Amino acid sequence: MDAVERIEQALLQAIGNVDVPSCPPRLLAAMHHAVFPAGARVRPRLCLAVAAACGEDDPSVADAAACAIELMHCASLVHDDLPCFDDADLRRGQPSVHKAFGEPLAVLAGDALILLAFQTLGLLAHAPQKLALLLLTVSRSVGVPSGIIAGQAWECEPVIDLRHYHRAKTGALFGAAAIAGAAASGAEAEPWRTLGETLGEAYQAADDIRDACADVEEIGKPIGKDQALGRPNAVLELGVAGAVKRLETLVGEAIASIPPCRGAADLRALVHAEAKRLLPKSLARQVA
Ligand code: IPE
Ligand code: IPE
Ligand code: MG
Ligand code: MG
Repeated sequence: MDAVERIEQALLQAIGNVDVPSCPPRLLAAMHHAVFPAGARVRPRLCLAVAAACGEDDPSVADAAACAIELMHCASLVHDDLPCFDDADLRRGQPSVHKAFGEPLAVLAGDALILLAFQTLGLLAHAPQKLALLLLTVSRSVGVPSGIIAGQAWECEPVIDLRHYHRAKTGALFGAAAIAGAAASGAEAEPWRTLGETLGEAYQAADDIRDACADVEEIGKPIGKDQALGRPNAVLELGVAGAVKRLETLVGEAIASIPPCRGAADLRALVHAEAKRLLPKSLARQVA
């Protein structure tokens, strides 16, 4: 099975595990809507790519880690789209969860997906040492002081440092994906942090560029939200050329940070190929 199939199957299984008559059907439908159809699945793909580069010995651990990370990400998007955050009606080309199911179910679906991530990791009782590190890694990357929740909370502060904000709201979960991939393989995990965090920062810079320069049809979500809501954004701060330069520098730093391992060359090639797809089509043509 390739990485994408493994991820889709693990996510279907996780939601399938709670698809029982005692679960409120509309809540279950809202959770399903938040996870499918797939987005880029970039975080779980990073997790599995690092696991493979480290020579994974038990794919079930990497699958659970990748699944938990994507569930956390999907939950963060549900909450991010709510009217009290970005008030976005469209996500992955379909109505956002609160548009389709209403705000109460969107709040609850996001909460339930966060806990489903922990439920998924909790099934790894056969690998207790890996489980402990995965729980700590994933929860830190979503919580405080510097995970997604902290990143989103910076939007409520009067003064925000762009890089600090990007590292928390996006870099932290990417960092967790890389660390979890190594940990799932029994490799030393900490050396992988820089790859994940730097890629995450690059990915958020690309998201800022798409917010400023792409079409709604191309990205399947509203554009211009950062400017409309006064959010810090790499394009608003650095201009389009400066943001593209920042993106390229970060991708270069990420690739250079890949620790020595048996799959390092393949991983470098993969990151390079993926990074090329981050720019909106109109800009990619100009830069090429
Ligand atoms: C969107 O993430 C939010 C960011 C942190 C940039 P993705 O661009 O990975 O969203 P999906 O999963 O593909 O929809
Ligand atoms: C979302 O950031 C990051 C999260 C932690 C959810 P954005 O608000 O910039 O992402 P999009 O553009 O809505 O996907
Ligand atoms: Mg936001
Ligand atoms: Mg948003």
